Amino acid sequence: MRVLAFETSCDETAVSVVEDGTRILASVVASQIDIHRRYGGIVPEVASRQHVLSILPCYEEAMAAAGVSLDGIDRVAVTNGPGLAGSLLVGVNFARAIAASRGLPLFGVNHIEAHIYANWLAFPARPEDDSRFPALCLIVSGGHTEMHLMRGHGDYRLLGRTRDDAAGEAFDKAARLLGLGYPGGPVIQKAAAEARGRYALPRAWLPGTSDFSFSGLKTALYHLTRREAILGNPELVANAAASFQDAAVEVLVAKALRAASDAGARCILVSGGVAANSALRNRLAAQSPIPTFIPPIAMCTDNAAMVAACHYFAHRDDAAGGDIDVEPALSLS
Ligand code: KG4
Ligand code: ZN
Repeated sequence: MRVLAFETSCDETAVSVVEDGTRILASVVASQIDIHRRYGGIVPEVASRQHVLSILPCYEEAMAAAGVSLDGIDRVAVTNGPGLAGSLLVGVNFARAIAASRGLPLFGVNHIEAHIYANWLAFPARPEDDSRFPALCLIVSGGHTEMHLMRGHGDYRLLGRTRDDAAGEAFDKAARLLGLGYPGGPVIQKAAAEARGRYALPRAWLPGTSDFSFSGLKTALYHLTRREAILGNPELVANAAASFQDAAVEVLVAKALRAASDAGARCILVSGGVAANSALRNRLAAQSPIPTFIPPIAMCTDNAAMVAACHYFAHRDDAAGGDIDVEPALSLS
C-alpha cells in the first residue's frame, strides 16, 4: 500500500510517499526555522502563509523523488490536529483536493500519534508483531510533552502531560533568556557542551503523578541570569545552559522510567523534536533497564513519513476514509 502523506501542523511543510508503512520513497521537509528565527519563535500567521507557498513545490518534489504519479498512490493521509489551526488548514485542504481529484480515500492523522510511529519507520516491525507492547511512549516536542501507555496499534492510555510549557518550548525560552537564539534545543545543547560548572536549578517532580512542569525551571533560570550577571559571559552562559538542560533531562528521564516500571512497559518509545537532544538520548540509554527506541533526528522532528507510517500501522483497516476537518485541540487518549 502506497500512502501519500502531508504534515503542516506547525512550522514544517512536509510531504512523503511511503510504501507499506516503512519504505520511504520520498520525504520532503521544508523548514521555516530561518523565517521564524528573527521573531524568536513561531508566528502563526507567518507559518500558515509560508505553508501556502511551500506545499505545491514540496508535493511536486516528493512525487518526482518517489518516481510515481497519482495513479500509483493508494491513499492520502494528512495531519489534521493537534496544531496551529491556520497551518493545519493548508495541509488538510491540499490533501483533500488531491484526494478528490482522483477519488482516493482521505484519512486524518493525529500529529502526536504520528510522532510515536517514527519508531516504526526507524525500527520496522511487522504489523502483527506485538512484542513492543505495552510500550511507554514519551513524546517531547516544541508543542507537546506527553506520556502514553501504548497497548497495541492505535490503543493508548494517557499517563501524564505537561501542566504548562512543553519541553521544547522550555528549551526555546531558556535559549532566549540566555541570548542564544532560536530554536533553543540545539543552541542550548551546543552551549552546554562547553560548560565547566553548574548552577543549582529546581526540578519539578510533581510526586504521585506522571505530569511534568517546566515553567518553574524557566523562572528560576530567569532569576539566575539577573542575580549572577551571566549574560554576555560565554563561560557562565554555558554553565547556565548545561544546568538548565540537566534539570529538564533529569526529570524527563526519571519520570519516564518510573512510569514505564509502574505500567509494566516492555520498552520505551521516544519521539518529538526534543528527542534529538544528546543528553536525553545518552541518559535514557544509560539508565533504562528496558529497551529504549529513539529514531534518528530527522525522524524525531516534524515530517510526513511518520504520518504515512501511522496511518498504515494503526488505521489501515479503515479502508473507506472520509471527509475530514482540522482539529487544533485533538488529543490522543
Ligand atoms: O517535534 P518538533 O520538530 O516540532 C513540534 O511538533 O513542536 O519539535 C521542535 C522542538 C523545538 O522546541 C526545539 O527547540 C526542540 O524541538 N529541539 C531540541 C533539540 N533539537 C530540537 N530540544 C532539545 N535538544 C535538541 N537537540
Ligand atoms: Zn511535532
